[in-house]
Amino acid sequence: MLEHLDRMEAHLRELLEKEGGWLPFERFMHEALYAPGLGYYTAGSRKLATPTDSAGSSDFITAPELSPWFGATLSTPVADVLRDTNSLDVLEVGAGTGALAASLLPALAELGLPVNYYILEVSADLRERQQQTLAAWEPQVRWLDRLPERFRGCVLGNELLDAMPVRLFCWSQELEVLERGVVWHDHGWTWHDVPADSALSRIVRERMPPLPGYLSEVNLQAEGWMHGLGDWLEAGAALLIDYGFPQHEYYHPQRHRGTLMCHFRHQASDDPLKLVGLQDITAHIDFTAMADAAHASGLEVLGYTSQAAFLLDAGLLEHLQSLRESDAHAYVLQLNSVQKLIQESEMGELFKVLAVGREAAVPRGFRRDRLHSL
Ligand SMILES: C[S@@+](CC[C@H](N)C(=O)[O-])C[C@H]1O[C@@H](n2cnc3c(N)ncnc32)[C@H](O)[C@@H]1O
Repeated sequence: MLEHLDRMEAHLRELLEKEGGWLPFERFMHEALYAPGLGYYTAGSRKLATPTDSAGSSDFITAPELSPWFGATLSTPVADVLRDTNSLDVLEVGAGTGALAASLLPALAELGLPVNYYILEVSADLRERQQQTLAAWEPQVRWLDRLPERFRGCVLGNELLDAMPVRLFCWSQELEVLERGVVWHDHGWTWHDVPADSALSRIVRERMPPLPGYLSEVNLQAEGWMHGLGDWLEAGAALLIDYGFPQHEYYHPQRHRGTLMCHFRHQASDDPLKLVGLQDITAHIDFTAMADAAHASGLEVLGYTSQAAFLLDAGLLEHLQSLRESDAHAYVLQLNSVQKLIQESEMGELFKVLAVGREAAVPRGFRRDRLHSL
């Protein structure tokens, strides 16, 4: 562990020197997560938990890892999109351990949909883990090296956008927008703010009123990804599931320290400058900005709702009922994790689902739609 930290430190200090002594946080976060052989997602340590992992052997658990009923329920809206586009193609971006595919593929097969399941994954380690998880589905699953130029079908991204590096900003006492970056000082990383460039300053001023001392972030890479989707999604829809809020809640005066969070062995912290490369770094999603970026690139914003409302409307309870009838013991064992998916105090309310698309109707899951809140 210490050796890894030393190698990451040397890598970042070399980069810092090349960049003139100051690194924007976005670049620091990119390296911390994705530097080849060193980053959190690219250096082979065990990150994503499965429910059977011993406590402390992983850093966080996502919905498809928590319960196979998440993926099974997703089969309903995915089937809707495939039917609308007359396609059998599903593309999952950022597939983690492959848990979502492992629960979605059998559910789609049960609906008579022998889909072509494409995965795009930036982490070579996770891609290997996905190949192990999905070995039984191998002929149907293919891995892509880059986004397709054209795609018709259903795109899925669970906790994809929150893993993209963010730019940090803060308002000075004089109400200037500053960009937060890092410098090396006295044997360690420390924050250093510089005047934001005009593009960042304009974006921040458009999104929130000036509040001296307020610190937050914008995820321009995720917005760029959403904008790019409009170029390659010829027909179909993307379902993007993540934790976050509409813009007015995101930049609420009380959220004055932003939403940046780190995870290491199930412990959360707010200090991304420690355990660099060993801990996950993530920020919540501004869903208004994601919807705006999709809309600006010609996509229709089809729906936005909480994870709980989405799963219940897409038939989570009906799926569970079939389990209750066929295997009461398994049903009881599953209840606890299913509750976590929908409970307001767990993932039910903080996590949202955004659907954007082209030539596709609104899939099931959005009856309690909150598009008006974006
Ligand atoms: C927080 S994990 C979520 C994994 C999985 N979807 C789940 O819910 O368990 C983020 C995933 O997105 C991948 N990722 C991040 N940026 C990506 C990008 N631009 N393209 C493809 N995958 C990406 C990471 O390597 C990782 O697999």
